[in-house]
Amino acid sequence: MGNRYAIVLAAGQGTRMKSKKHKMLHPVLGRPMVQHVMDQLQVLKLKKIMTIVGYGAEQVKQQLGDSSDFILQEEQLGTGHAVKQAAPFIKNEQGVTLVVCGDTPLLTADTLAALFDHHVQSQAKATVLTTTITDPSGYGRVIRDNDGNVAKIVEQKDATNEQLQVNEINTGTYCFDNQLLFESLSKVSNDNAQGEYYLPDVIEILSQANEKISAYQTEDPNETIGVNDRVALAKAEKIMRDRINLEHMKNGVSIIDPDHTYIGSHVTIEQDVVIEPGCVIGGETFIRTGTVIGSHTEINNCTIGENTIIKQSVASDSEIGNRVDIGPFAHIRPQATIGNEVKIGNFVEVKKTHIEEKSKVSHLSYIGDAEVGKNVNVGCGTITVNYDGKNKYLTKIEDDAFIGCNANLIAPVTIGKGAIVAAGSTINKDVQADALSIARSKQVNKESYAKRLNKYK
Ligand code: UD1
Ligand code: CA
Repeated sequence: MGNRYAIVLAAGQGTRMKSKKHKMLHPVLGRPMVQHVMDQLQVLKLKKIMTIVGYGAEQVKQQLGDSSDFILQEEQLGTGHAVKQAAPFIKNEQGVTLVVCGDTPLLTADTLAALFDHHVQSQAKATVLTTTITDPSGYGRVIRDNDGNVAKIVEQKDATNEQLQVNEINTGTYCFDNQLLFESLSKVSNDNAQGEYYLPDVIEILSQANEKISAYQTEDPNETIGVNDRVALAKAEKIMRDRINLEHMKNGVSIIDPDHTYIGSHVTIEQDVVIEPGCVIGGETFIRTGTVIGSHTEINNCTIGENTIIKQSVASDSEIGNRVDIGPFAHIRPQATIGNEVKIGNFVEVKKTHIEEKSKVSHLSYIGDAEVGKNVNVGCGTITVNYDGKNKYLTKIEDDAFIGCNANLIAPVTIGKGAIVAAGSTINKDVQADALSIARSKQVNKESYAKRLNKYK
C-alpha cells in the first residue's frame, strides 16, 4: 500500500472547554481523549506518527510518551498552519498521510483503515471522512458539485444560509497524497471569518487543480464526534460507554445497568462476571470469570481472580486472588496482593501489603506495609503502626497467627507463626512462634467503688 503516515492535531487551546486542564487531556472514560486517538493509530502500524503540539505542549508530550514524534506549532494559526509544521520532516516523502484531530476520541482503527483503503482504491489525492447528521451545527459542511464530487468544505462561520442546510459534515479526518498536501498547504490563506489557515481549504485547492477528491462516509456519526466543549465531552463519554458495555455483554459479561456502569477501554473481563449498577472500572484492569463486582465499586488497574466478590469498595493498582471476599466499604490501595480465599471485611484499608491465602481481616482495620501469611486472623480494629512521621516500616505476621481485637502492631515487628496477640495489646517487640503476647496494663477491679462514686453524681 506504500508508506502511510499520520499527523495528529493537538496544539489548540480548546477555549470552548473553559478549563484550566488541557483540552486533549480531558478524559473520556478515564483516558485522555488524545490518548484514545493514539491508541487507534497504534493499531494501524504506520510508518510514522507526528503529533502537532503547541498550547500545553509538555503535558501532551508527557501523556503520549514515545508513541509519537512531536512537532511544535508555536503560534496556533489554524489547522492548516498546524499540519504545515510537519513539512520540514516529511513533505518530500511519497505516500499517504492521514490527518486526524486529537479531539475526536471515538474514531476507531477499523474506520481509519477503511478510510486508507478507500483513498487508495479510489486513487484520490485527498479523501475526507464525512458523515451525515441531523444537527450539523459547529462542523464544517461538505459542499459537493453538481456531479456529486466534493468541491470544498465550508466552516460554519463562513457558510451561507444555503450551505448551513447541508447535513454532510467534515469529521476533521482526511487522507492525503503526502506531497500534494504540503504543496497545497502553501497556497492556503487566512482570509476567512476566523482569520485562520484552514486545513479543509486544501480540498478546494486540489479540486480546482482537477485532482481527484473523494469522500468516505461513515454510517455511524457517533464515531466522529468532535469534542469542543463539556456538552460534547459528556456525549462522547456516553457513546464510548455504550460501545464498551455492549462489547462486554456480547462477550458474556452481565452488566445489570449499562447506563450506570463505566468501564474503561483497557479493561478485560471474562465471561460470567457480574457487574452491578454504579461501578467505575478503569485502567488496565483484568477480571476473571465468575467474579461479582457489587454496586458502586470503583476499580482501577487491578487484576482480580475467579469467583471473587467485591462489594461497594474501592481498589486500585492491586492484585486480588480467587474466591476473595471484599467489602462492603473496603479500600484496597496500591501494591496490595491479596491471596486466594482471603476475606477483607467492612471498613478495612489495605496498602502495600501481601496477604496469603485464607487469611481474614474482617472489620475496621488498617493494614499497611505488611506481609501477612496464610490462615491468619486479624481481629477487629487492628492497626499496623507503620509510620513514625518520617519512614514507613514493615509488619510481618506469619502463618496461623491470631491477632486479637484492637491490637496495635508497631513496625518494624514480626508476629511469629501460630502466635497469639491478646486483644488490646500494643506490640513493639517481635513475638516468637506459638507464643501468647499480652501487652496492656493489668485489669484491677475495685469492689463497691462504683457505688461510692455514684454518691457524688
Ligand atoms: C475542525 C474543522 C471542521 C470540522 C471539525 C471536526 C477546520 C478549520 N475545521 O473544526 O471543518 O468539521 O474540525 O471536528 O479545520 N489545532 C491545532 N492548531 C491550530 C488549531 C487547531 O493543532 O492552530 C487542533 C486542535 O487542537 C484540534 C484540531 O486541530 O485538535 C481541530 O481544531 P478545532 O479548533 O477543534 O476545530 P473545529 O472548530 O472543531
Ligand atoms: Ca474540534
